[in-house]
Amino acid sequence: MSVPVTGRLSADSGESAWHAAWLPTAAFRELGSRPVLVHGDGLLVDTVLDEVSRACARYGGRLWHGPPWPVDADLVLALRGAGPVPNAAAETVRLGATPAVNGTGDGALGDEGYLLTRASGVTVVLADAPAGLLYGMFHVVRLGAAAFHDDLPARRHRPALDRRMLDHWDNVALHPVSGQVERGYAGGSLFWRDGAARHEPARLRDYARLLAACGVNAICVNNVNVHDTEALLLTDRLGDVAEIAEVFRPYGIRVHLAVTFAAPVVLGGLPTADPLDERVRDWWAAATRRVYQRIPDFGGYLVKADSEGRPGPFAYGRDHADGANLLAEALAPHGGVVRWRAFVYDHHQDWRDRSTDRARAAHDHFAPLDGRFADNVIVQVKFGPIDFQPREPVSPVLAAMPATRLAVEVQATQEYTGQQRHVCYLGPWWSEVLRFRPHGAAGDTIADVAGAGGGLVAVSNVGDDPFWTGHPLAQANLYAFGRLAWDPLLDPGAILDEWIDLTWLPVTSGDPEALRRTMHAIMDDSWRTYERYTAPLGVGFMVRPGHHYGPDVDGYEYTQWGTYHFADRDGVGVDRTRATGTGFTGQYPPPWSEVYESRDRCPDELLLFFHHVPYRHVLHSGRTVIQHIYDTHFAGVEEVAAMRERWRLLAGALAPAVHDRVAERLDEQLRSAVEWRDQINTYFFRKSGVPDAHGRRIH
Ligand code: GCU
Repeated sequence: MSVPVTGRLSADSGESAWHAAWLPTAAFRELGSRPVLVHGDGLLVDTVLDEVSRACARYGGRLWHGPPWPVDADLVLALRGAGPVPNAAAETVRLGATPAVNGTGDGALGDEGYLLTRASGVTVVLADAPAGLLYGMFHVVRLGAAAFHDDLPARRHRPALDRRMLDHWDNVALHPVSGQVERGYAGGSLFWRDGAARHEPARLRDYARLLAACGVNAICVNNVNVHDTEALLLTDRLGDVAEIAEVFRPYGIRVHLAVTFAAPVVLGGLPTADPLDERVRDWWAAATRRVYQRIPDFGGYLVKADSEGRPGPFAYGRDHADGANLLAEALAPHGGVVRWRAFVYDHHQDWRDRSTDRARAAHDHFAPLDGRFADNVIVQVKFGPIDFQPREPVSPVLAAMPATRLAVEVQATQEYTGQQRHVCYLGPWWSEVLRFRPHGAAGDTIADVAGAGGGLVAVSNVGDDPFWTGHPLAQANLYAFGRLAWDPLLDPGAILDEWIDLTWLPVTSGDPEALRRTMHAIMDDSWRTYERYTAPLGVGFMVRPGHHYGPDVDGYEYTQWGTYHFADRDGVGVDRTRATGTGFTGQYPPPWSEVYESRDRCPDELLLFFHHVPYRHVLHSGRTVIQHIYDTHFAGVEEVAAMRERWRLLAGALAPAVHDRVAERLDEQLRSAVEWRDQINTYFFRKSGVPDAHGRRIH
């Protein structure tokens, strides 16, 4: 099969109509120009063979598969159990048993791990399972020439999280409101178009390669909001899912389906979907059996139930554990999991009712159920208590369910972070969340919680756009997600370096260091820049209702959605304290229950999330709240203007199509940032009557 491996939109010349992202052909130059030995068998080993042989064909290297092998191989990729290996690899096997390489680990490599080292002038990747060999090969690609330096450190690599998943919010049928991809900012779906599967394996295969190369090992192929056509993927349209699974399988990626809880009624013709009804249980068992007959390595179901109008167990007087366990029972014999979302709240709230707090909802519903979920249930929790805002505290649910497998859900699609028209590198934000310790300095991190079985999930930011993500720089979010899911302790700046080095090979003799510096200058702090010119101090949701792009301070203030800021003439923010507010602070364990409760101790960036304070309240920074609002909004716009100038200087150093696309988006980002600045500053000036200390223009 001929598969395009380059993009004519990349720095390489090549045959495909889409950008090569972090796998341009040239990334394989070092590996492809050497004698390479691949030792082992299996579907994913075939993938390694295919990758290496194409690289060697292009760059003049040679590939051997298993014995006999040449004495002078520069790179050995071998399964430990595949039988005798060349000397250097044998040396590595011995080295692999030493604590220096394994740290405190037991030396096991697991299903996905590998040892990477250089012994006697040969670079060696050893794995116990084919997926480890594939990940090891991509590591060699990432390292480039450095993979063949004698100082390459010997190390065992294993993913910290076993489950590293992307959820596509893709609809099969074009939805009248949410379109082909709900909250999609990168064109259409890679899987579906106008009610049918696209059947475009070449593009899907390139997508699978990109995902595997950054460490993703699971995808859900349809929207959590399962409408009529999409419900059929479980039954009549299962063949389409099986076809997608075929393409992803060789890259170690398991396919999952979002299903409707009402499936026994809408697909099975039963009068009920009650989780405790025998007929319902039988229906799920039979439907699931059929799924596994077609897709033996099927990952499992994803369910949004009793949330924003989706059907769920509440209709039958049952709770979320009853609902999730029903599907878990059907999946268990086949090794599948049910991912049950904790995004449950009252979306018909009365804004006049100050006692109801959307932030409390997930914890109120789920924490009492801890210990009741079956082993193969993963409760999937949005990282914050509200909804993927640019700033929120970490969800207290993640600290409240020690007897449940929890997955942490982040949003790569930039619904609330500029919709892929704004540069907003989310690596630092996700890293902050993953490093957070909800029980204080001596307790576990959120990464530990995710590592206990549920893993990390991102809502995908990918579509059929030639650059995959609409904004070419938004590719970095996808890449960073995969890398952080593999190792949550990676430094987001170092991840950006990897991504820059792989992706942005200058077309001309341009200066790679200058390119790298510019990318960093634009992207490193772009999430904080976004935060500065949008909603201040953790208040959130000052966006236009519906599409969520651009400012509208009161857009959600008098609505049913539970997302309010309560600005009045005296102050702004939501009182979520136990003393005088909604009591949400009490959902946190100490020390955070105390830190957030206290106006004085609460971190500045979350102050308005937890407290309603006067405009002249003085922050830890020494500035008043109102002056902070003015200052950050002016600063945020200046930062965007500087980004745009920096990008201009790269003209000529990048393929014009890429440069132009980013330049256009930066123009829009600047326009939008100015709009944000002016509306937010004007709104709060008019409410508070407090002038800007620096006399800048406010309208
Ligand atoms: C947000 C988003 C919806 C989505 C929902 C979810 O509210 O705006 O489009 O369906 O999250 O996560 O289920």
